[in-house]
Amino acid sequence: MSLFRIFYVSDAVGDAGAGLLPLIDIIGASDRNNRRDHVTGFLLRHQDRFFQLLEGGRVDLERLMGRLAADRRHQNIRVLVDTPVDRRLFPQWAMAQIDPLPSLEPILTRLAGTRPLSEVAFEVDQVIADARLALDGTR
Ligand SMILES: Cc1cc2nc3c(=O)[nH]c(=O)nc-3n(C[C@H](O)[C@H](O)[C@H](O)COP(=O)(O)O)c2cc1C
Repeated sequence: MSLFRIFYVSDAVGDAGAGLLPLIDIIGASDRNNRRDHVTGFLLRHQDRFFQLLEGGRVDLERLMGRLAADRRHQNIRVLVDTPVDRRLFPQWAMAQIDPLPSLEPILTRLAGTRPLSEVAFEVDQVIADARLALDGTR
């Protein structure tokens, strides 16, 4: 099965932007569904925005993106990366939740702004690198 990677940013709506409960809710459903669908990745919330990395089969990702588009806890989904990949970056995480390091803030702010998608590869890599360190327990 060929594998794809999607990375998007969206704007949290209302309560979804603050507090732990909405995050716990989202991660709970994600963990359950993503295990079933062989989807892996991470979710990061920062200043009323969600940043999410998703990896899996095309059909599973399309279905998930459809559910995400209909989810009123966020809006204005901007897909920054959608590409075939050889392997998963976070194979052991159905959906990890990442708290970004403060040093990542300018990068997240830049990613959230409207820029040509061809210019965000560096920033996306920085976010992925931070998530890697967080999940390895090495930062
Ligand atoms: C920012 C955000 C990220 C989400 N990520 C996922 C995800 O990775 N997998 C998933 O199944 N649902 C995710 N959801 C929830 C879906 O939009 C949807 O509510 C859920 O898949 C419905 O699942 P259910 O039919 O089992 O209740 C996310 C929602 C938000 C707001």
